[in-house]
Amino acid sequence: MTSPVGIALIGLGWWGKKILNVLATAPADIRVVRAVEPNIEAVRGLCEDKAVVVSADYADALTDPAVEAVVLATPHSLHGSQIEAAVAAGKHVFCEKPLALTRAGAVKAVRLCRDAGLVLGMGHERRWEPPIADMLARADAGELGRIHQIEANFSHDKFLTLDRDNWRLKADQAPAGGMTATGIHLLDLSVRLLGPAESVLCICEKLSSDLPQGDTVAAYVKFRGGGTSYVSASLANPFMSRFTVYGSKGWIDIRDKAHVEAPDGWIVTSVAAGGPITTAEVPPAEPVKDNLVSFARAVRGVESYPITAAHLVDNIALLEAVFASALSGKIEAVA
Ligand SMILES: NC(=O)c1ccc[n+]([C@@H]2O[C@H](COP(=O)([O-])OP(=O)(O)OC[C@H]3O[C@@H](n4cnc5c(N)ncnc54)[C@H](O)[C@@H]3O)[C@@H](O)[C@H]2O)c1
Repeated sequence: MTSPVGIALIGLGWWGKKILNVLATAPADIRVVRAVEPNIEAVRGLCEDKAVVVSADYADALTDPAVEAVVLATPHSLHGSQIEAAVAAGKHVFCEKPLALTRAGAVKAVRLCRDAGLVLGMGHERRWEPPIADMLARADAGELGRIHQIEANFSHDKFLTLDRDNWRLKADQAPAGGMTATGIHLLDLSVRLLGPAESVLCICEKLSSDLPQGDTVAAYVKFRGGGTSYVSASLANPFMSRFTVYGSKGWIDIRDKAHVEAPDGWIVTSVAAGGPITTAEVPPAEPVKDNLVSFARAVRGVESYPITAAHLVDNIALLEAVFASALSGKIEAVA
C-alpha cells in the first residue's frame, strides 16, 4: 500500500472543478493538497466545502513540499510555461489537452520531464473509457487484423453561450473550431492505433454560428505506415461522440451516451469477420478519474503510464499540421 500522491490543481474552471469532484472518490491513490485559481472569490466556497486550500499564485503550489505533482487545467497558452516551472520545482505534471500547440512545444515538455525523471500525464481520458480500452487491447492483440481506417466525431454545443472573447474561441489558442477542444482526443486515439501521421487535409467552416474560429471542422489524415483517419467535430450541433475503427478481421463502433463530464455509458457495435454484427451496452465509468489514478500510480512507480512520449509528440505534430491545413486549405505534411 503506497501513500496517495499529493497534487495541486491549477485552474478551477469547468474542467478543474470536474477533476476536483472525481478525485474525491480516489483517496487511496491521489489527493488534492491545494488549488490555484486567480479568480479566487469564484471558488472560495467550493474549496471550503472540499477542505482544499486555494490561493491565486502558482508559486504557492510549486513551493509546497506536500505537492508532488501539478494538474494543469488552465488555458492552452499557459501549459508550456507552467510545465517548465513545475519541472524546475521538481513536480510531476499532469497536463490537460492539448499539451502544446506546436510540435516544438511538445518536444520541449516531454524532454524537460524525461530529463528530470518526472512523469508527464495527459488529459486524454478517452483511453480509459472501458470500450475504448477494450478496443485498443483487441487491436494490439491483432484481433482486428490490419487497421485500415478510422472515422470519428466528437461534437457538442456547449461553447455557443461563451463570451466571444473567451480564450477557448481565440485564434492563438483554438485556431481550428473544435479541434483543440474535442477533436484532439480523436487525433490521440488515431495516432495510438496507426502511428505517426504523414499528411492531413483540414477544412474548418463557420456554418451556423458566429463562433470566431469556425464551428465545423474535419480532418482527413494519412499515416506514414498506411491507413487513414477521418476526424470531425462540431461546436454547433447537439452532443455526439463516436469512434469507429475498421480492420481486416473486424470493426468496432463506439458511441458515448453522454459527454465525459457526466458519463452515462456506451453503445458498442462490432463484428468479427464471418460473424454476426452485435450491439452491447457498456455501463457508465469515470475515465477522468481513472486516467489520474493511472498517472498517480506511475508517479509511485507501480505501473507505467500508457500515453508515451512518442504518442504525445506525434499527436501535437499532427495538430500543428491540422492548423496549417485549416489556414492554407491544402494538404499539409506532418513534421
Ligand atoms: N480532458 C477533457 O475532456 C477536457 C474537457 C474540458 C477542458 N479540458 C481542458 O482543460 C483546460 C481548462 O479548460 P476549461 O474548459 O476548464 O477552461 P476554463 O476557462 O473554464 O478554466 C480555466 C481556469 O484556469 C484559470 N486560470 C487562468 N490563468 C491561470 C493561471 N495563471 N494559473 C492558474 N489558473 C489560471 C482561469 O481563471 C479558469 O478558472 C484546457 O486545457 C482544456 O482543453 C479538458
